[in-house]
Amino acid sequence: MAAISTVGALLAASHAQAAGSDSERLAHGKALVELNCSRCHGVGESDESAHPEAPEFRTLAERYPVDALEEAFAEGIVTGHPDMPEFEATPQQIEDIIAYLASIQRN
Ligand code: HEC
Repeated sequence: MAAISTVGALLAASHAQAAGSDSERLAHGKALVELNCSRCHGVGESDESAHPEAPEFRTLAERYPVDALEEAFAEGIVTGHPDMPEFEATPQQIEDIIAYLASIQRN
């Protein structure tokens, strides 16, 4: 289970840094999920998930409080993804993806 502790360490490290403006981070996070996640998940404000079991990202807050998205994201990536290839992200990438996910929640 080395992958789990690695992701935990990356998330912990990500709190220590903040680079770029908010809009740069959102654009970067959006580009990352379009590249890595959109073949299964709906990643925008209105697109449907291509994979029948993958939740649209804008609905994640229905299952998790937005504050818990970061944790849900890490756990979802490592435990909830039978069909998903391993995705290795840098702390900055994780930070940007989470900022983007938080920005598209419907509620
Ligand atoms: C090959 C298909 C596939 C790809 C690519 C994929 N996912 Fe998923 N994802 C799924 C499926 C299927 C589920 C539902 C799994 C379940 O409910 O057990 C899911 C669930 C999730 C969840 C919710 C987990 C939970 O516990 O409810 C999150 C968050 C998530 N994915 C994030 C991502 C992110 C971020 C990416 C891109 C880095 C990504 N996924 C790429 C298929 C994929």
